[in-house]
Amino acid sequence: MARIVGALATSHIPAIGGAIARGLQKEPYWKRFFDGFDRPREWLAREKPDVVAVFYNDHGLNFFLDKMPTFAVGAAAQYRNDDEGWGIPTLPPFKGVPELSWAIIDHLIANDFDIVTCQEMLVDHAFTVPLKLFWPDGDAPAAVPICINTVQFPLPSAKRCWAMGRAVGEAIAGWDRDLKVVTIGSGGLSHQLEGQRAGFINKPFDLKFLDTMADDPEWATQFSVLELVEKTGTQGVELINWLAARAAASPGPMRKVTQTYHIPISNTAAATLVLEPA
Ligand code: DHB
Ligand code: FE
Repeated sequence: MARIVGALATSHIPAIGGAIARGLQKEPYWKRFFDGFDRPREWLAREKPDVVAVFYNDHGLNFFLDKMPTFAVGAAAQYRNDDEGWGIPTLPPFKGVPELSWAIIDHLIANDFDIVTCQEMLVDHAFTVPLKLFWPDGDAPAAVPICINTVQFPLPSAKRCWAMGRAVGEAIAGWDRDLKVVTIGSGGLSHQLEGQRAGFINKPFDLKFLDTMADDPEWATQFSVLELVEKTGTQGVELINWLAARAAASPGPMRKVTQTYHIPISNTAAATLVLEPA
């Protein structure tokens, strides 16, 4: 049976992709942020996951405001990236795992999650930047993209994302393959890119959220989506991707391997987290 070896999470700011493309990792603005990936990469080199399930939000590349699924799961043999207009290079296609995708889709539908299935799916910076950060040599494992609407209201609640993540975790655990799987939550932490509160960051909330991820991960599910927007910003609500990835990995306590928190990268409080089974 497949085994979940951990849950990773990171912010996905497009400027990170630009910094990687330009080789700026050691520049003063970027050094502390990129140095924070040494420990996650050491952990990954040790654990060597075969497959990654990426919980992320599409920002208009694959889904636009005219058609916006609440949850969508990729079921393709490969996923293409494309130009989003951020001035970062388009990356080569990412390998999929259709067999696991369909196992997840079957289990989600059987458990009343009315998802969209995508046999063709473009993946945007929220998918590509985390994979580039954790696997800078381009050797990321084959992936299942799981897309959550964090963009156009109404958004799914944190509680619903937790439940969806749990169902994905059950599907992975029931997958009849002797493979190691890691989950990734993409986005956050607090940031708001537009309107009167542009630049909004809430460090106390972010640190509390990070604190709860190992031992009390359902803490944030007490908040409605509007409360999360109030506390973390219109884009900070991307933290629901973290909750789904955390839920998929384990319903119970996990052990924190490493965590970073860095204000700001671009407009965002950038954070990274690695959890492993307790
Ligand atoms: C930024 C952050 C995001 O999450 C995103 O999707 C795009 C831009 C930013 O801070 O620049
Ligand atoms: Fe984003």
